[in-house]
Amino acid sequence: MKLIYNNLEVVNWVSKNKDLAIGFIPTMGALHKGHLSLISEAKKKADLVVVSIFVNPTQFGDKNDFVNYPSTLDQDLRALENLEVDMVFIPSSAEELYKNENYDTIAFESIENVMEGFHRIGHFEGVARVVKLFLDLIKPNYAFFGEKDFQQLLIIKTLIKKLEIKTEIIACKTVRENDGLAMSSRNARLSKHHRSLAPNIYKVLGMCMQKAKTMDFNDLENTCFKELSKFSSPEYFEIRNANDLSKSGGKNTKWRAFVATKLGDIRLIDNIELN
Ligand code: PAJ
Repeated sequence: MKLIYNNLEVVNWVSKNKDLAIGFIPTMGALHKGHLSLISEAKKKADLVVVSIFVNPTQFGDKNDFVNYPSTLDQDLRALENLEVDMVFIPSSAEELYKNENYDTIAFESIENVMEGFHRIGHFEGVARVVKLFLDLIKPNYAFFGEKDFQQLLIIKTLIKKLEIKTEIIACKTVRENDGLAMSSRNARLSKHHRSLAPNIYKVLGMCMQKAKTMDFNDLENTCFKELSKFSSPEYFEIRNANDLSKSGGKNTKWRAFVATKLGDIRLIDNIELN
């Protein structure tokens, strides 16, 4: 497994392997089974698998969240070695990665102004900037993203389309703990008490799915928000069109429910397909 720390070496490695299909998984490290499932999908589709590990400062509005973001690099590298990943890109610094950036602000329209976009101003611009940098350097045939961050997935699909980038985006299902809690690097920072409450998030999503067939969506959003408030501090609970995150749709529309809620200092997000 090749470890690379600077942009130029990435470009050289990619040009040496230009006849092979590359599958790419961007991560911020503190890897768990959710990340590893993306890598397994990549292994099925591509000749070479590349993973990046980089806690990207431009996507964090909250300095505390950035500073406290967990890091388990040695353990991550052992897991990637076991999965026979071909190359890991660990940018040595933000200055190194961003030094030749050329990014023109992209209008993501309705997708960027709601939910995570509304509550974390600037977050998706930071995500789009860093993913574009990685795609420009690595030029993967495929890039893998989790449905756990469904809004991020739509942002990346829009980025690819608008900039006519020739990478196929593969969406991967959310991996959960046995008790239903969506795996997340932030789960490790939950207190024991909050960890025991966290599976209720998935229970509320499950309840929403059950009731979505019969209940008015506005009432259902309010009911679910109240349920979340019993054990956490919800920021939003919203039912939206899975295509464009609007609130409108017809009889063939795929709907999804989205939640962000805080347990202590830890903010968790999750979502579920409703039909
Ligand atoms: P990170 O949170 O490390 O997630 C990396 C990838 O793993 C994302 O595509 C995310 O959706 C996926 N993922 C996380 N938890 C998952 C789970 N439980 N099941 C399935 N997939 C899961 O998302 C980011 O990093 C960053 O924003 C990044 C795209 C790397 C840009 O900095």
